[in-house]
Amino acid sequence: MREATSEPSARSALPFRSAVVPAAGLGTRFLPTTKTVPKELLPVVDTPGIELVAAEAAEAGAELLLIVTSPGKDAVAAHFADSSELEKELQTRGKDALVAKVRRAHELIAVRTVTQDEPKGLGHAVGCARDAIGDDEQAFAVLLPDDLVLPTGVLTKMAEVREQHGGSVLCAFDVPREQIAAYGVFEVSDTGDDDVKRVHGMVEKPAPEEAPSTLAAAGRYLLDRAIFDALDRIAPGAGGELQLTDAVALLISEGHPVHVVVHRGGRHDLGNPGGYARAFVDFALEDPDYGPDLRAWLAARLNG
Ligand code: G1P
Repeated sequence: MREATSEPSARSALPFRSAVVPAAGLGTRFLPTTKTVPKELLPVVDTPGIELVAAEAAEAGAELLLIVTSPGKDAVAAHFADSSELEKELQTRGKDALVAKVRRAHELIAVRTVTQDEPKGLGHAVGCARDAIGDDEQAFAVLLPDDLVLPTGVLTKMAEVREQHGGSVLCAFDVPREQIAAYGVFEVSDTGDDDVKRVHGMVEKPAPEEAPSTLAAAGRYLLDRAIFDALDRIAPGAGGELQLTDAVALLISEGHPVHVVVHRGGRHDLGNPGGYARAFVDFALEDPDYGPDLRAWLAARLNG
Protein backbone atom coordinates (compact mmCIF):
# COMPACT_ATOMS: atom_id res chain seq x y z
CA MET A 1 0.00 0.00 0.00
CA ARG A 2 1.30 3.44 -0.79
CA GLU A 3 1.95 5.91 1.98
CA ALA A 4 -0.40 8.91 2.12
CA THR A 5 1.30 12.23 1.51
CA SER A 6 1.64 14.49 4.51
CA GLU A 7 2.83 17.50 2.57
CA PRO A 8 0.54 20.35 3.73
CA SER A 9 0.32 22.33 0.47
CA ALA A 10 -0.73 19.20 -1.42
CA ARG A 11 -3.42 18.64 1.20
CA SER A 12 -5.03 22.03 1.24
CA ALA A 13 -5.80 21.92 -2.48
CA LEU A 14 -7.91 18.79 -2.01
CA PRO A 15 -11.60 18.84 -1.18
CA PHE A 16 -11.00 15.75 0.97
CA ARG A 17 -8.11 13.44 1.67
CA SER A 18 -9.70 10.37 3.23
CA ALA A 19 -12.36 8.10 1.82
CA VAL A 20 -14.07 5.78 4.31
CA VAL A 21 -15.33 2.47 2.96
CA PRO A 22 -17.51 0.52 5.41
CA ALA A 23 -16.79 -3.15 4.75
CA ALA A 24 -17.45 -4.91 8.04
CA GLY A 25 -20.72 -6.65 7.17
CA LEU A 26 -21.25 -10.40 7.22
CA GLY A 27 -22.50 -10.50 3.64
CA THR A 28 -25.42 -12.74 4.60
CA ARG A 29 -27.11 -12.34 1.23
CA PHE A 30 -24.11 -14.00 -0.40
CA LEU A 31 -23.89 -17.02 1.86
CA PRO A 32 -22.50 -19.64 1.51
CA THR A 33 -19.73 -17.87 -0.49
CA THR A 34 -19.20 -15.30 2.25
CA LYS A 35 -18.32 -18.02 4.77
CA THR A 36 -14.75 -17.49 3.54
CA VAL A 37 -14.79 -14.80 0.82
CA PRO A 38 -15.70 -11.22 1.80
CA LYS A 39 -18.40 -9.91 -0.51
CA GLU A 40 -16.28 -6.82 -1.27
CA LEU A 41 -13.87 -9.14 -3.09
CA LEU A 42 -16.44 -10.70 -5.40
CA PRO A 43 -15.34 -9.96 -8.96
CA VAL A 44 -17.14 -7.70 -11.38
CA VAL A 45 -15.79 -9.56 -14.43
CA ASP A 46 -12.24 -9.85 -13.06
CA THR A 47 -11.93 -6.96 -10.60
CA PRO A 48 -13.21 -6.94 -7.00
CA GLY A 49 -15.96 -4.43 -6.36
CA ILE A 50 -13.86 -2.69 -3.70
CA GLU A 51 -11.10 -2.00 -6.24
CA LEU A 52 -13.64 -0.25 -8.47
CA VAL A 53 -14.72 1.88 -5.50
CA ALA A 54 -11.08 2.59 -4.56
CA ALA A 55 -10.42 3.73 -8.13
CA GLU A 56 -13.40 6.07 -7.97
CA ALA A 57 -12.13 7.57 -4.69
CA ALA A 58 -8.62 8.02 -6.09
CA GLU A 59 -9.97 9.61 -9.27
CA ALA A 60 -11.78 12.18 -7.10
CA GLY A 61 -8.51 13.05 -5.36
CA ALA A 62 -8.61 10.89 -2.22
CA GLU A 63 -5.20 9.85 -0.93
CA LEU A 64 -6.21 7.42 1.77
CA LEU A 65 -8.79 4.64 1.73
CA LEU A 66 -9.94 3.88 5.26
CA ILE A 67 -11.52 0.46 5.15
CA VAL A 68 -13.77 -0.26 8.12
CA THR A 69 -13.46 -3.98 8.54
CA SER A 70 -14.34 -6.70 11.01
CA PRO A 71 -12.41 -9.67 12.40
CA GLY A 72 -11.96 -12.37 9.75
CA LYS A 73 -12.04 -10.01 6.77
CA ASP A 74 -8.31 -9.31 6.45
CA ALA A 75 -8.39 -10.39 2.81
CA VAL A 76 -10.12 -7.10 1.88
CA ALA A 77 -7.11 -4.94 2.81
CA ALA A 78 -4.71 -7.65 1.64
CA HIS A 79 -6.01 -7.07 -1.87
CA PHE A 80 -4.27 -3.66 -1.78
CA ALA A 81 -0.98 -4.96 -0.37
CA ASP A 82 2.29 -5.29 -2.24
CA SER A 83 2.25 -8.23 -4.64
CA SER A 84 5.80 -8.09 -5.97
CA GLU A 85 6.34 -11.87 -5.71
CA LEU A 86 3.39 -12.57 -7.97
CA GLU A 87 4.41 -9.71 -10.27
CA LYS A 88 7.92 -11.14 -10.61
CA GLU A 89 6.53 -14.54 -11.49
CA LEU A 90 4.21 -13.04 -14.10
CA GLN A 91 7.07 -10.95 -15.53
CA THR A 92 9.18 -14.07 -15.91
CA ARG A 93 6.39 -15.54 -17.96
CA GLY A 94 6.12 -12.39 -20.09
CA LYS A 95 2.60 -11.59 -18.89
CA ASP A 96 2.92 -7.80 -18.82
CA ALA A 97 -0.81 -7.05 -19.07
CA LEU A 98 -1.41 -9.23 -16.01
CA VAL A 99 1.40 -7.49 -14.11
CA ALA A 100 -0.39 -4.18 -14.65
CA LYS A 101 -3.70 -5.63 -13.47
CA VAL A 102 -2.15 -7.14 -10.36
CA ARG A 103 -0.27 -3.96 -9.47
CA ARG A 104 -3.19 -1.57 -9.93
CA ALA A 105 -4.84 -1.88 -6.50
CA HIS A 106 -1.55 -1.36 -4.68
CA GLU A 107 -0.69 1.73 -6.70
CA LEU A 108 -4.12 3.35 -6.66
CA ILE A 109 -4.27 4.72 -3.16
CA ALA A 110 -2.88 4.23 0.34
CA VAL A 111 -4.99 1.94 2.48
CA ARG A 112 -5.53 1.71 6.23
CA THR A 113 -8.00 -0.40 8.11
CA VAL A 114 -10.00 0.33 11.21
CA THR A 115 -11.94 -2.37 13.00
CA GLN A 116 -15.62 -2.36 13.80
CA ASP A 117 -15.97 -5.03 16.46
CA GLU A 118 -19.74 -5.17 16.56
CA PRO A 119 -22.27 -4.82 13.73
CA LYS A 120 -24.02 -1.74 15.13
CA GLY A 121 -24.90 -0.09 11.82
CA LEU A 122 -23.55 2.25 9.14
CA GLY A 123 -23.42 5.26 11.48
CA HIS A 124 -21.36 3.29 13.96
CA ALA A 125 -19.04 2.07 11.18
CA VAL A 126 -18.36 5.63 10.01
CA GLY A 127 -17.76 6.68 13.62
CA CYS A 128 -15.05 4.01 13.88
CA ALA A 129 -12.99 5.98 11.32
CA ARG A 130 -12.90 9.09 13.52
CA ASP A 131 -9.42 8.61 15.03
CA ALA A 132 -7.92 7.75 11.65
CA ILE A 133 -9.00 11.04 10.09
CA GLY A 134 -6.59 13.92 10.61
CA ASP A 135 -7.60 16.83 12.88
CA ASP A 136 -6.97 19.14 9.94
CA GLU A 137 -9.44 17.34 7.66
CA GLN A 138 -12.65 19.35 7.61
CA ALA A 139 -14.44 16.87 5.38
CA PHE A 140 -14.10 13.28 4.26
CA ALA A 141 -15.83 11.02 1.77
CA VAL A 142 -17.77 7.83 2.45
CA LEU A 143 -18.26 5.30 -0.33
CA LEU A 144 -20.48 2.29 0.27
CA PRO A 145 -18.85 -0.59 -1.60
CA ASP A 146 -22.22 -2.17 -2.42
CA ASP A 147 -23.04 0.79 -4.64
CA LEU A 148 -21.49 1.43 -8.02
CA VAL A 149 -22.40 4.91 -9.29
CA LEU A 150 -21.79 5.23 -13.03
CA PRO A 151 -20.16 6.89 -14.74
CA THR A 152 -17.75 7.94 -11.99
CA GLY A 153 -17.27 11.62 -11.22
CA VAL A 154 -20.12 12.36 -8.82
CA LEU A 155 -17.70 12.92 -5.91
CA THR A 156 -16.02 15.71 -7.83
CA LYS A 157 -19.37 17.40 -8.42
CA MET A 158 -20.19 16.90 -4.72
CA ALA A 159 -16.92 18.60 -3.77
CA GLU A 160 -17.84 21.59 -5.96
CA VAL A 161 -21.20 21.83 -4.20
CA ARG A 162 -19.52 21.78 -0.79
CA GLU A 163 -17.19 24.53 -1.95
CA GLN A 164 -20.20 26.62 -2.99
CA HIS A 165 -22.63 25.89 -0.14
CA GLY A 166 -20.45 24.49 2.68
CA GLY A 167 -21.65 21.73 4.98
CA SER A 168 -22.20 18.18 3.78
CA VAL A 169 -23.14 16.87 0.35
CA LEU A 170 -24.68 13.53 -0.51
CA CYS A 171 -25.49 11.74 -3.74
CA ALA A 172 -29.15 11.12 -4.57
CA PHE A 173 -30.86 8.86 -7.06
CA ASP A 174 -34.45 9.05 -8.15
CA VAL A 175 -35.91 5.60 -7.49
CA PRO A 176 -39.43 4.23 -8.06
CA ARG A 177 -41.61 4.88 -5.01
CA GLU A 178 -42.33 1.16 -4.51
CA GLN A 179 -38.58 0.58 -3.94
CA ILE A 180 -38.00 3.55 -1.66
CA ALA A 181 -38.23 1.60 1.64
CA ALA A 182 -34.74 0.18 1.02
CA TYR A 183 -33.08 3.59 1.25
CA GLY A 184 -32.35 6.77 3.17
CA VAL A 185 -34.72 9.34 1.64
CA PHE A 186 -34.38 13.12 1.33
CA GLU A 187 -36.83 15.96 1.84
CA VAL A 188 -35.60 18.62 -0.57
CA SER A 189 -36.17 22.01 -2.15
CA ASP A 190 -34.82 23.34 -5.44
CA THR A 191 -31.70 25.43 -5.92
CA GLY A 192 -30.78 27.27 -9.13
CA ASP A 193 -29.19 24.05 -10.40
CA ASP A 194 -31.59 21.26 -11.37
CA ASP A 195 -29.07 18.62 -10.27
CA VAL A 196 -28.48 20.15 -6.83
CA LYS A 197 -31.14 20.22 -4.10
CA ARG A 198 -31.10 21.63 -0.60
CA VAL A 199 -31.95 18.96 1.97
CA HIS A 200 -34.39 19.80 4.78
CA GLY A 201 -34.77 16.34 6.25
CA MET A 202 -33.67 12.76 5.81
CA VAL A 203 -35.32 9.55 6.91
CA GLU A 204 -34.01 5.98 6.82
CA LYS A 205 -36.11 3.31 5.11
CA PRO A 206 -39.54 4.99 5.25
CA ALA A 207 -42.73 3.25 4.13
CA PRO A 208 -43.46 4.33 0.52
CA GLU A 209 -46.52 6.36 1.54
CA GLU A 210 -44.49 8.22 4.16
CA ALA A 211 -41.40 8.92 2.05
CA PRO A 212 -40.82 12.68 1.70
CA SER A 213 -39.64 12.23 -1.93
CA THR A 214 -38.34 9.56 -4.27
CA LEU A 215 -34.78 10.84 -3.96
CA ALA A 216 -32.71 8.15 -2.22
CA ALA A 217 -29.18 8.16 -0.80
CA ALA A 218 -26.96 6.30 -3.23
CA GLY A 219 -23.90 5.37 -1.22
CA ARG A 220 -21.71 8.45 -1.76
CA TYR A 221 -21.26 11.03 1.00
CA LEU A 222 -19.02 14.05 1.46
CA LEU A 223 -19.36 14.71 5.17
CA ASP A 224 -18.24 17.61 7.28
CA ARG A 225 -16.38 16.35 10.34
CA ALA A 226 -19.30 17.72 12.41
CA ILE A 227 -20.89 14.34 11.61
CA PHE A 228 -18.75 12.67 14.29
CA ASP A 229 -20.26 14.78 17.03
CA ALA A 230 -23.75 14.06 15.64
CA LEU A 231 -23.00 10.32 15.55
CA ASP A 232 -22.24 10.49 19.27
CA ARG A 233 -25.70 11.90 19.93
CA ILE A 234 -28.03 9.60 17.98
CA ALA A 235 -29.94 6.62 19.35
CA PRO A 236 -30.42 3.35 17.46
CA GLY A 237 -32.91 3.86 14.63
CA ALA A 238 -34.20 1.72 11.74
CA GLY A 239 -33.38 -1.96 12.29
CA GLY A 240 -32.10 -1.14 15.80
CA GLU A 241 -28.87 0.19 14.23
CA LEU A 242 -27.00 3.48 14.56
CA GLN A 243 -27.91 5.07 11.23
CA LEU A 244 -25.75 7.55 9.34
CA THR A 245 -29.03 8.98 8.04
CA ASP A 246 -30.13 9.90 11.57
CA ALA A 247 -26.86 11.76 12.22
CA VAL A 248 -27.30 13.70 8.96
CA ALA A 249 -30.90 14.48 9.96
CA LEU A 250 -29.69 15.73 13.34
CA LEU A 251 -27.18 18.05 11.69
CA ILE A 252 -29.88 19.42 9.39
CA SER A 253 -32.17 20.11 12.36
CA GLU A 254 -29.35 22.16 13.88
CA GLY A 255 -28.91 24.31 10.77
CA HIS A 256 -25.95 22.51 9.17
CA PRO A 257 -26.21 22.93 5.38
CA VAL A 258 -26.81 19.66 3.54
CA HIS A 259 -27.26 19.34 -0.22
CA VAL A 260 -27.61 16.47 -2.64
CA VAL A 261 -26.26 16.06 -6.11
CA VAL A 262 -28.90 14.19 -8.10
CA HIS A 263 -27.03 11.64 -10.16
CA ARG A 264 -28.74 11.01 -13.50
CA GLY A 265 -26.49 8.19 -14.64
CA GLY A 266 -26.49 4.49 -13.84
CA ARG A 267 -26.14 2.58 -10.63
CA HIS A 268 -25.55 -1.00 -9.57
CA ASP A 269 -26.25 -2.60 -6.21
CA LEU A 270 -23.56 -5.22 -5.58
CA GLY A 271 -25.08 -6.01 -2.19
CA ASN A 272 -27.34 -8.83 -3.34
CA PRO A 273 -26.94 -11.60 -5.94
CA GLY A 274 -29.57 -10.11 -8.27
CA GLY A 275 -27.93 -6.68 -8.42
CA TYR A 276 -24.50 -8.28 -8.58
CA ALA A 277 -25.54 -10.39 -11.58
CA ARG A 278 -26.69 -7.26 -13.42
CA ALA A 279 -23.44 -5.46 -12.67
CA PHE A 280 -21.37 -8.42 -13.81
CA VAL A 281 -23.28 -8.72 -17.08
CA ASP A 282 -23.21 -4.96 -17.66
CA PHE A 283 -19.43 -4.76 -17.22
CA ALA A 284 -18.82 -7.98 -19.15
CA LEU A 285 -20.80 -6.67 -22.12
CA GLU A 286 -18.40 -3.72 -22.28
CA ASP A 287 -15.32 -5.93 -22.04
CA PRO A 288 -13.42 -6.27 -25.32
CA ASP A 289 -12.49 -9.90 -24.59
CA TYR A 290 -15.78 -11.22 -23.28
CA GLY A 291 -18.39 -8.71 -24.51
CA PRO A 292 -19.06 -9.80 -28.10
CA ASP A 293 -19.42 -13.49 -27.28
CA LEU A 294 -21.57 -12.79 -24.21
CA ARG A 295 -23.84 -10.49 -26.21
CA ALA A 296 -24.45 -13.16 -28.85
CA TRP A 297 -25.01 -15.85 -26.23
CA LEU A 298 -27.40 -13.67 -24.22
CA ALA A 299 -29.45 -12.82 -27.31
CA ALA A 300 -29.78 -16.51 -28.19
CA ARG A 301 -30.50 -17.43 -24.56
CA LEU A 302 -33.26 -14.85 -24.28
CA ASN A 303 -34.85 -15.95 -27.54
CA GLY A 304 -34.54 -19.64 -26.77
C1 G1P B 1 -27.54 2.15 3.30
C2 G1P B 1 -27.98 3.47 3.91
C3 G1P B 1 -29.13 4.05 3.11
C4 G1P B 1 -28.73 4.19 1.64
C5 G1P B 1 -28.26 2.82 1.10
C6 G1P B 1 -27.71 2.99 -0.31
O1 G1P B 1 -28.56 1.20 3.48
O2 G1P B 1 -28.35 3.27 5.26
O3 G1P B 1 -29.48 5.32 3.64
O4 G1P B 1 -29.82 4.69 0.89
O5 G1P B 1 -27.22 2.28 1.91
O6 G1P B 1 -27.35 1.76 -0.85
P1 G1P B 1 -28.31 -0.40 3.32
O7 G1P B 1 -28.30 -0.68 1.85
O8 G1P B 1 -27.01 -0.69 3.99
O9 G1P B 1 -29.49 -1.04 4.01
